[in-house]
This record gives sequence, structure tokens and C-alpha cells, in this order.
Amino acid sequence: MPPIVAEEKSQTLAVNGGPKTIDSLEGSPQPKIWHEEFLQVARTWGYSDETIEKIGEAIADEVPPGAPFGGGAFHGRYYNPRPSNVAEFEAKARELLNVKHAYAVSSGTGALHSAFIAADVCTGDEVIIPAYTFFATASAAVVAGGIPVWCEVDESMTMDPADLERKITPRTKVIAPVHMNGYVCDMDAIMKVARQHNLRVVEDCAQAFGASYKGKRVGAFGDFGCYSISCFKVTGGGEAGMLVSNDDRLFDRARNFAEAGGLWRPNRFGHPRWEGELFCGLNYRQSELEGAVNLVQIGKAQKQLDQWRANKRHLLESIPAYLHLQPQTINDIEGEMNHSLGFLPDSRADSEKLSGALRAEGLSAGLRGTAPDWHYADDMWQINQHMSATSDGFPWISPQTVESGGPPDYGENPAPRTKDLSERHLKIGIEKWWTKNDCAKVAEAITKVLDAFYERDGDKKLLNVVSRKR
Ligand SMILES: Cc1ncc(COP(=O)(O)O)c(C=O)c1O
Repeated sequence: MPPIVAEEKSQTLAVNGGPKTIDSLEGSPQPKIWHEEFLQVARTWGYSDETIEKIGEAIADEVPPGAPFGGGAFHGRYYNPRPSNVAEFEAKARELLNVKHAYAVSSGTGALHSAFIAADVCTGDEVIIPAYTFFATASAAVVAGGIPVWCEVDESMTMDPADLERKITPRTKVIAPVHMNGYVCDMDAIMKVARQHNLRVVEDCAQAFGASYKGKRVGAFGDFGCYSISCFKVTGGGEAGMLVSNDDRLFDRARNFAEAGGLWRPNRFGHPRWEGELFCGLNYRQSELEGAVNLVQIGKAQKQLDQWRANKRHLLESIPAYLHLQPQTINDIEGEMNHSLGFLPDSRADSEKLSGALRAEGLSAGLRGTAPDWHYADDMWQINQHMSATSDGFPWISPQTVESGGPPDYGENPAPRTKDLSERHLKIGIEKWWTKNDCAKVAEAITKVLDAFYERDGDKKLLNVVSRKR
């Protein structure tokens, strides 16, 4: 190698006392995001001038011009001059859900994906999923390399513990019960099966933020609880999610996966602190803007749950029980989310007739439509037809899957009992803002319709017959 020539001419470098090339530049630094630009977004939400002013004050302490990329309003979780909204949201979630760890992510799907990876779902491992859920539960399992195994739901419209037991094979790695529509699963029975077979449990709580089973919040039973905190759910205003766990190592693994392999760590770029701590991950971080909205939302969650609970109880206490009309089973009346009242009439035709009559009385009632719907396993073609994102057929025809017997042949109707129940399942919406008088009117309307079609079961009320019998 020739010697470095800079030796000779070094007197000209500023570092050696020579003239400095840049004393000033003509242009001046501009904030990357102006207040006004940000407030334009706030204005689209229809706030009053007073609120807009408050928002303006709240975002006033922006990163000074001269910061990387021009400064301006700064909405990242790390290096933020203000306390992180997202961290505060997590603290509130830990308190509300009574869990050791909570990590805010960008979607419920991201939470599920991270949980499946952290639970060590390897290529070809089976994940047992109820056949009534949103597609994301199964999709996240497949992206992690898992093979979904459909479990039937029972009359609670949640995972049937008896079918769960039947679906376990030596390849099963994870059970993923889903607290669908805010109905809580029979967690005693599910956890018993999981313990007996030494399986991990990832609870999909996307539709049940704050719901509980026998006094314990859902999400806290399994190894992980995965929430969707979005505008489509009871809590949330945009697109976000939440991952909770009571297990330190499992939580660290999930968080690592959701944060590019470990950006959250106290010594971010430090060596692994324990065997297997570090690996490659993605970025499912929740944004600070989203966190600000969610912070307000989580503050309202318990009151909303209480309102729904009171209104559903009112209906269950007022509406008679009927012979030959099966109400949906409830695993925990005090704990479920209570935003609907369900029945399982004998046939779809009966269900349609009731639904029409209820709607005519001014109620919101409905059942599964006839168009394809990715909430029901029989319509989830990506799974049932082994569709893959990549040309290697991952994970359906990956060597590990093939070696262990290949993926199930799901067929056209992979969960016949769930299909039957879902086609008869009649749901009547319950609103949290109903007053006592509203509840009385709603109970009267429902009773009027049911009286016209069915015979009352003596003096019994729905409350006497809806709970799961053991
Ligand atoms: C049962 C269930 N699981 C998972 C998800 C996915 O959540 P997200 O849309 O936040 O990714 C949803 C969302 O609708 C859901 O309903």
C-alpha cells in the first residue's frame, strides 16, 4: 500500500488549522413538519377552535430546527423531547388489564405475528384456531410458518374445548382461542387442555379489549394476549394493537421481533444478555400520534364495559326464556363485552324470519350474510387452498411440513359444526348509551317478536338459561 498522501498537504485542512470551508449557508433550516401542517390534520377531525388551540400548545415544544432532517414536530417513541404517549398508553394498559407486560404495536395482526414467533412456532408446527375468527389469526400463524388447524366453536360461538382436545396432534405447538365479538372463551377448559398437553396459548383478544373471565382480564390467561386497538374495535381510533404477557422472557422475545430485533433494549446495541435473546425482527412499533388517541380511548374503556354490562343484564333479566329457542351460551355474563345478544334458532330460515321481524320493530339484528366473509373458516381460501406468498410454497409444502405428514386437506367445509352455527347465529346489537328506559323498550320489542314465534318456558328469564352449565 502506498503512503497516504494527505501527510504532505495537511496544512490546508481545517482540522490542522487551515481555513474552514463552510462558515454559513444561504438557505435556512426549515422544520420538517410545521405546526400548521400538523394542525391541518387535527382540523379534519372537526375539533372546536379551543381544542385546536390546545393541540397547538401541546405540540409547541418541537425539536428545534437544525435537528436531523429539519426538526419540527416529532412523533417518534424514542428521543422524543416529550414523554411518550405510547409508553403512557402501555402503562395504563398494564394497570387496566392487570398484566406484567404490555407492548403497543401497530396492529392486532402484528401482535399475533410477534406472539407466534415468540412462542416458537416453527415451519410446519400446528396452531389450533377456532373456525369463527377474523382471518388475521390464521394468516399471522401462516406467516410465522405455522399450519392452522380449525377447531369447531360451540354454542358460545367461541372455541369448543372438546373439539380442541380432539384436534391435538404431536405437531401441535400453540392453541389460539379467540374472544370473538367480545364473547369470552371457556378459559378454564382451554387452559386445562393446554396444561395437560404442555402447549403454548396465544389469546386473540382483538375484539374484546377489557373483557374478563371469572374476574381475570382476557389476554392474561395464556402466554400472550393480542389486542387490536383500531377504529373497527371498541377501543381505538385508528390502526394499532397491543401485546401483553406475564412471562418476562417470552415477552422480551415478542418485543424483540416487533422492534427490529431489540431496539427497545436499555443498551440498544449491546451484546445478547441471555442465550437466544437476539434475532432478526420487524418493526411493528406504535406511532406517537396513534398513542395519543389510544391514551384517551383507554381512559374510557372501563366505563363503556360497565355500561354494556348493565344494559345486557337488564335485557337478560327482562326477556323471557322460550321453549325451542336456544340462546347463545355465555361463558361469563359479568365478564364478556356484552355488545350483542345472541340466539341460535333451529334453522337459517327461522333466523332470517326473526331478524326481519326484529329489524321491523326498530332493532339492529342480523346474521351471517350470503357473500364470502373472512370471519368464517369455510370462506378463508388462503388457508383452505394452501395459498403461499412466495413461490417456494411456504409453509404448506416446506420440507418440515411435508416430513410431518403435510398440511391438512381442509376441503370445502373444514368446520361443519361452526358453519351450521354461524348460519343460524342471530345477533341483536346492544348500545352502551341506552338509558334504562331504552333498555326497557328494547326488551319489550324483543319479547314482542319472540312471543309471536315461540312459547315461553314458564316464568324463566334468559338470565336463568344463558350461562354455560358444567
Ligand atoms: C379476531 C381478530 N383477530 C385479529 C384481528 C387483526 O387486528 P388488526 O386489524 O388490528 O390487525 C382482528 C381485526 O379485525 C380481529 O377481529
